[in-house]
Amino acid sequence: MKSVIVLLGPPGSGKGTQGEMLSEKLGYVRLSTGDMLREAVRNGTELGKKAKTYMDSGALVPNDLIIGLMKEKIAQAEGGVILDGFPRTVEQADALDQQLQVDLALNLDVPDEELINRLTKRRSCPDCNAVYHLIYNPPKTESVCDKCGAKLYQRDDDKEETVANRLKVYRENTMPLIGYYEKKGVLVTIKGVGSIDDIYAQVEKAVQ
Ligand code: AP5
Repeated sequence: MKSVIVLLGPPGSGKGTQGEMLSEKLGYVRLSTGDMLREAVRNGTELGKKAKTYMDSGALVPNDLIIGLMKEKIAQAEGGVILDGFPRTVEQADALDQQLQVDLALNLDVPDEELINRLTKRRSCPDCNAVYHLIYNPPKTESVCDKCGAKLYQRDDDKEETVANRLKVYRENTMPLIGYYEKKGVLVTIKGVGSIDDIYAQVEKAVQ
């Protein structure tokens, strides 16, 4: 069983959705840089204050802030880890390489049109970070998280104009990691379109 898993894929490709399912099934720790940064922004920490402007425009938070944060979280994690949203640049991938060996880089491949549709209709839970979609994966009660009962919200960076910039930033900075992990022989690409359960079945197979 692969125990260090990197989830690659553009914004809205389903990294959080699939990563959460995998984490529950395997008991691995899921480390999501996006969730950590949003929590820092909500709590008004130094990191949150520095990260907010970048996140609101759909840009990447500077490498030095992210690498230090993840180094610490990875060192604290016990057992298998799922890295969701990290690394996102070659510099971050090199830093990760110095800390541990990646067993599997799972790349979720989804066309832009579908990504825009998913992100602009996504609703997120501020407390437990669960994600929903108004049409594909709605909560049982409108605007209420099934898991913890908190009121759902729309992320600021899920507005259409910011989504377009996030896709551009992904292509310029993160897409090169597909070749990076392919060269290392650990890349598996999965078509991330179809039902969440069908995609999960392929994810599980790749992890074996
Ligand atoms: P982050 O939170 O990591 O955002 P992201 O990578 O853009 O990914 P998303 O969370 O938007 O999408 P996802 O792939 O997890 O999809 P999800 O499962 O939610 O990062 C946010 C920001 O933080 C960045 O822009 C950057 O500023 C900063 N940041 C984070 N990490 C960084 C790093 N390493 N370096 C620098 N900066 C960093 O699904 C999306 C929607 O689709 C949901 O509504 C879901 O219900 C639905 N859905 C999922 N699967 C399906 C399906 N099969 N069919 C239909 N709908 C589906």
